[in-house]
Amino acid sequence: MKFRVLTLTLLAVCGLAIAAEPNYPLDAPAPDGRRAGGTITQEFTPPPLRDEENKDLKRERNYPEQPPTIPHAIRGYQVDINSNRCLACHSRANSARTQAPMISITHFTDRDSQTLGAVAPRRYFCTQCHVVQHDVKPLVKNDFENIDQLLYHENTQNQQ
Ligand code: HEC
Ligand code: HEC
Repeated sequence: MKFRVLTLTLLAVCGLAIAAEPNYPLDAPAPDGRRAGGTITQEFTPPPLRDEENKDLKRERNYPEQPPTIPHAIRGYQVDINSNRCLACHSRANSARTQAPMISITHFTDRDSQTLGAVAPRRYFCTQCHVVQHDVKPLVKNDFENIDQLLYHENTQNQQ
């Protein structure tokens, strides 16, 4: 019995030693993604966080199913197992008092398409889908076109 424990421990230690050995050159160039330049092991100082916009202005949605961005600041709003600050304003019961738009019907529907009496578990963590607004340039190039632009291009092409 003792012998088996010893073998297992030895195996585990060897395994750890092998896992800790990096199998890439330390000066390999890092992929030019959101963190452009440098090597894989180099650490950069991240850019400072921008302030959240707090203008109460809706932004255009790129497609109808897009979660609307949050037009107000949410710093310090807690969402955990005990409380949900967002629902303090956006729930069915509270939206009249606060004049916050009520969460839509999809937020009451669970994964089995059952409409529940309160927010569905899969819609509980609001910031999984809704993000605050920032006045910043996109981090990566994006040539997304919305449906109006697509149809416009299609029509102009057909006319030629
Ligand atoms: C103190 C009340 C209050 C709290 C708390 C609050 N909101 Fe809001 N929210 C509003 C109001 C009011 C609006 C309407 C626009 C405005 O006045 O900013 C709004 C607008 C929104 C919208 C835009 C809806 C649309 O149709 O464009 C989203 C999304 C949103 N809130 C998400 C959140 C999330 C996520 C949280 C929690 C992190 C949260 N809100 C917390 C009051 C609140
Ligand atoms: C899994 C993604 C997801 C989560 C989590 C989620 N939402 Fe949404 N939300 C959406 C999408 C997508 C829309 C737009 C289409 C729709 O209504 O389903 C939306 C729409 C909204 C709207 C606009 C409603 C309207 O009638 O225009 C509000 C307000 C909102 N969400 C608030 C919240 C709050 C508050 C929470 C947390 C309790 C939350 N959402 C969690 C995806 C999500």
